[in-house]
Amino acid sequence: LLGHQSALNPHGPAAREIADLAWLLFAGGSVIFVFVIATVAMALYGPPRLRAWLGGTRVIVAGGIAFPIVVLTALLLRAFVPEGFAQAAQPAVQVEVVAEQWWWRVHYVDAAGDQDFATANEIRIPVGATVEIALRSADVIHSFWVPSLAGKIDMFPGRVNTLRLSADRPGVFRGQCAEYCGGPHARMALLVIALPEESFEAWRAQQRTPAVAPATGERMRGQALFAARGCGVCHAIRGTAANGVRGPDLTHVGGRLSLGAGTLANGAGPLALWVAAGQQLKPGNLMPSYDFLPDDDRRALAAYLEGLQ
Ligand code: CUA
Repeated sequence: LLGHQSALNPHGPAAREIADLAWLLFAGGSVIFVFVIATVAMALYGPPRLRAWLGGTRVIVAGGIAFPIVVLTALLLRAFVPEGFAQAAQPAVQVEVVAEQWWWRVHYVDAAGDQDFATANEIRIPVGATVEIALRSADVIHSFWVPSLAGKIDMFPGRVNTLRLSADRPGVFRGQCAEYCGGPHARMALLVIALPEESFEAWRAQQRTPAVAPATGERMRGQALFAARGCGVCHAIRGTAANGVRGPDLTHVGGRLSLGAGTLANGAGPLALWVAAGQQLKPGNLMPSYDFLPDDDRRALAAYLEGLQ
């Protein structure tokens, strides 16, 4: 699926810090490696005087004890340099993410610290702003990793870890659960979408609104089926009777880029496929495959959901 995902191609300060350190280690390691190999070659094939000198106590103390102490201490001090970015003042946007087998429950937090609106598997942020993400788990250990934007941090049941990230350009950045959490762990992706400030504000204002009413006959039929088939027992669609909390909030599902936590690109076709064969696409997920529904019913459901922009 779409999105940048590379720790060596950072697009934010937290990831750049890590990439810089990685390149420093790689460069330093290469220099030392070449030096050691050259020394070994001299010790094996060099003139007798040089070989005797290399075997002397002074060289062994300098190269084998003093040099590693200096290099490792310097690296340790480098690691203690505080990250200016992480210490920055108040974050501009606060988000809570709860990892569940096998998707990401997302809540935006308002200025008062209360939950604002819910979404899933996708986090939209304004470019350049510091975003603080509170990370929890509802079941087992998961790990939150968006390599282009920040380092990896585990998500434990009963504990809150926080991570700050920022994107320095607009784009779609793919993240992946990085701790094996059972079954379809590999299908537990998320997308962080960095938008220009105005687009982000427009998106946030729109996410707060209840779902739009279905505009076509097919979509109205889809809405009726959604209620009749009990989909609202697990899924919420704000503004309707559907208020389940077991699965992802679907109030604006049609506006997301992916389905099933990065399993499929979004659209009417993939929505119908997900309803029909969720268990084949992502075995073990909580939603049964509604393969017994007639094709037109699935199409109507998918049209309704696609319309929930
Ligand atoms: Cu969640 Cu692996």
